[in-house]
Amino acid sequence: MSDKEKKQGTSISRRNFLKGVGTGTVAATVVPSVLIGSEEAAEAQAGDAISTATIQLNINEKMYEVEVEARTTLLTVLRDGTDTSGDNVDLTGAKLICDRGECGGCTVMVDGKSVYACMMLAIDAQGKKITTVEGLANGDDLHPVQEAFIQHDALMCGFCTPGFIVSSAALLNENKKPTLEEIKTGLSGNTCRCGTYPFIFDAVKTASRKM
Ligand code: FES
Ligand code: FES
Repeated sequence: MSDKEKKQGTSISRRNFLKGVGTGTVAATVVPSVLIGSEEAAEAQAGDAISTATIQLNINEKMYEVEVEARTTLLTVLRDGTDTSGDNVDLTGAKLICDRGECGGCTVMVDGKSVYACMMLAIDAQGKKITTVEGLANGDDLHPVQEAFIQHDALMCGFCTPGFIVSSAALLNENKKPTLEEIKTGLSGNTCRCGTYPFIFDAVKTASRKM
């Protein structure tokens, strides 16, 4: 990829990126037989095995420029990514728990809707508005859902809590006055192993009244 293409982070499509990676993989596999076992072969394979791209992401209304591989998830960027300026993204509210779209611990909002960040490729998040649990509060003013979780003591170990809070905020974005059944359905993608569900549902009801 040319320097110019790398700089045009937002124009890199997943299709082209994956195509590029596919080409790289093939190139790495089809090393000329005369080179097999040689230093040149090792270099050719190492050089072609991983393709990266520099992309821009809007996270909590701040732009980040990060270098990613095709396989890099949004969750990896949030938790472990480094901006090209050298600053760590360091948004660790979204948790890596199951890493397979089952627990909801990694939930963030993408364009206002809840998304499992472990299941979304970072490159697919380009041009979208990403909101993590850290971005819900306005300075020292907590989001009504955050306040309600505190008020109802809706957590025990707290590991699932950021995901539940983001899912609850996304639910209330779409449905200002959900019924208990709608709250249960809206949060059905999140799991709490400590069993705090009744308190969480009460917190969402309280937050809906405040909002
Ligand atoms: S860590 Fe993403 S759904 Fe469990
Ligand atoms: S509070 Fe412990 S997993 Fe939900």
